[in-house]
Amino acid sequence: MDKAPIEPLSNAYRLVNPGPVVLITVGDGEADNLFAVTWNMPIRKDPGMVAFLSGKRHHSYPFIERTGELGVNIPDASLADAVLGCGSVTGAKEPDKFGRFGLTRQPASRIKVPLVAECVANLECRVCQIVDLGASSLIVAQILAATADPRHFQRGHWTFDNGLQLLHHLSGSRFCVSSETITATVPPRAQT
Ligand SMILES: Cc1cc2nc3c(=O)[nH]c(=O)nc-3n(C[C@H](O)[C@H](O)[C@H](O)COP(=O)(O)O)c2cc1C
Repeated sequence: MDKAPIEPLSNAYRLVNPGPVVLITVGDGEADNLFAVTWNMPIRKDPGMVAFLSGKRHHSYPFIERTGELGVNIPDASLADAVLGCGSVTGAKEPDKFGRFGLTRQPASRIKVPLVAECVANLECRVCQIVDLGASSLIVAQILAATADPRHFQRGHWTFDNGLQLLHHLSGSRFCVSSETITATVPPRAQT
């Protein structure tokens, strides 16, 4: 899938604005891994920043601490089974989760961590801060580069006109999808 750079990069936060489940990729040039994350959000527009919760016992966690780099990869609904797999199996027991769940490594431009080729958008990030929350940490990261499938992200916005279904986690193995844009208007003040 050909992807186009997000320009200006200050629009990249909009890739995660709808709250899709994401795949976080990690790696150090020798080994890599990935895991599913529901608890993520944009936190700054320019420079673009994202944050997410990561369990400290995840196999991926020491990679994040050590390398300070990670990928945020946005799957569409066609990848639901792979997302569930990446979020259910640990890299401690399955050293090649990419291969196990039919995902392809895509080289990144700014970081050593591989991205997920099948995802509709990819963000390359550098960790700025790790906030210790006990069993988990809040990982705060700056977006260094971002690309998206131009059929689905146009003029700085997701569009669902070409069949995109973003994936959102409900609980367990249940997900829902977003597949339509609606435009809201501020209701006029009632006349008295
Ligand atoms: C749909 C889904 C969403 C998840 N969201 C999160 C999350 O937001 N934060 C987190 O730390 N773990 C989350 N998990 C759990 C991790 O993805 C899971 O423990 C994973 O196996 C860790 O992989 P690793 O040990 O190979 O790093 C989620 C799992 C699933 C299935």
